[in-house]
Amino acid sequence: MYKIAVLPGDGTGPEVVREGIKVLEATGVEFDPTYFDFGGDRYLRTGETLPDSASAELRQFDAIYLGAIGHPEVAPGVLEKGILLRLRFELDQYINLRPVKLYPGVDCPLKDKGPEHIDFVVVRENTEGLYTGMGGFQYKGTPQEVSTQVHCTTRFGAERAVRFAFGLARKRKKMNQLHLVAKTNVLTFVHDTWWRAFNEVGAKDYPDVKREYAHVDAACMWFVKNPEWFDVIVVENMFGDIITDLGAMIQGGMGIAAGGNINPQGVSMFEPIGGSAPKYTGQNVINPLAAICAGQMMLAQLGEEQAADRIEAAVIRALSSGKIESLSAGRMGLSTTEVGDLIAGYVAEG
Ligand code: IPM
Ligand code: MN
Repeated sequence: MYKIAVLPGDGTGPEVVREGIKVLEATGVEFDPTYFDFGGDRYLRTGETLPDSASAELRQFDAIYLGAIGHPEVAPGVLEKGILLRLRFELDQYINLRPVKLYPGVDCPLKDKGPEHIDFVVVRENTEGLYTGMGGFQYKGTPQEVSTQVHCTTRFGAERAVRFAFGLARKRKKMNQLHLVAKTNVLTFVHDTWWRAFNEVGAKDYPDVKREYAHVDAACMWFVKNPEWFDVIVVENMFGDIITDLGAMIQGGMGIAAGGNINPQGVSMFEPIGGSAPKYTGQNVINPLAAICAGQMMLAQLGEEQAADRIEAAVIRALSSGKIESLSAGRMGLSTTEVGDLIAGYVAEG
C-alpha cells in the first residue's frame, strides 16, 4: 500500500489528476491517496501559498502526484516560486526527469521522423542554476535601476545530476551515451564546472558510457534535425526547462509530456508538464495522457515496473487504435473522462 500525496492544483489540474488516479487504480497496485488543496484558489482565499509544515508533511509519503500550479488571477512567480519551486527545493528533488518519446500513432511535427527516431530522456538539474532566487534589485523604479539574477552552480549539484544521468544511460541499454548540453563557450565559469564534473565523473566511474557534448543552441537544432542522435541528456536547470518544452513538442505536444521531480533518496513528485491551461477548466476537454504518463513514471520510481509497463502499453494501444483524434485539448474526439476510461480499461485487461 503506497501513501500518495495528491495535489490536483489549479485549472485543469484536478480533471487530469482524476483520470490519472483512475488509471493508477486500474493497475491493481494499492494506493492510499491524501489530497492537498495547494494552489491558486487556496492562495486567493487564505493569502498562503504553502504552509510551513507542508514539506515535513509531504516527506512522510511514498510519492507526490501533482496536477498543475498556475492561476490567471495570481501575479507571475507567486505560485511557481511559492509552491512548485519551493517543493522541489525543500524536498531536494534535484533531478527533473523528462522522457521524450514519440509513440506510434502520434502526429509528429518533424518531417520524416517517427517513433524510431525520437526516444530520449532529459535529465534536468532541478535545484540550482538561475532558479535559486539569488540576486535582486538596486535603485528599483529609477532610471538607474539594476537587476541581477545569479546563476549558481555547485560542483556538488552538477556532479550528482551527472552521476544520475550516467547511471540512467547505462540502465537504458540503448546507445549507452550521455550528452552534456550547456554553453561552455560563453558561460565559461558555471559551465566549466559542469564540463569538468561531466568528464571527470565519466572517465572515472562510467568509462563504458560514451560522452558527447552539444551547445544548447545547437542541441535545439539537432532536436529538430536529428533527434535520433540522443539517448540521455544532462543539462542545467534553465536550459533544461527550455529544451524540454521543445522536446515535448516533438513527442506530440503538452498533451502527452510528463515529468518527474526526483529525489532518489527521498520523496519524488510527478506531474504533467503542460501547466494549468485555465481556459479549458471544467470543460472535460483537456488531454489527461500527460498526467497518466506521470502516473506511469511514479509507479516506475516506486519500483512497480510491471504496472508502469502496463500503463505504457495501454497508452500505446489507445494511441494506435485511432480512437483519439488529436492530442490537443478540445480536439481529441473524446472527453477527458473518456480518454481516462479507455486507458483504464486497457490497463485492467492487460
Ligand atoms: C516547468 C515549469 C516551471 C519551471 C515553472 C512553472 C516554474 O515551466 O516545470 O518546466 O520553470 O521549472
Ligand atoms: Mn517549463
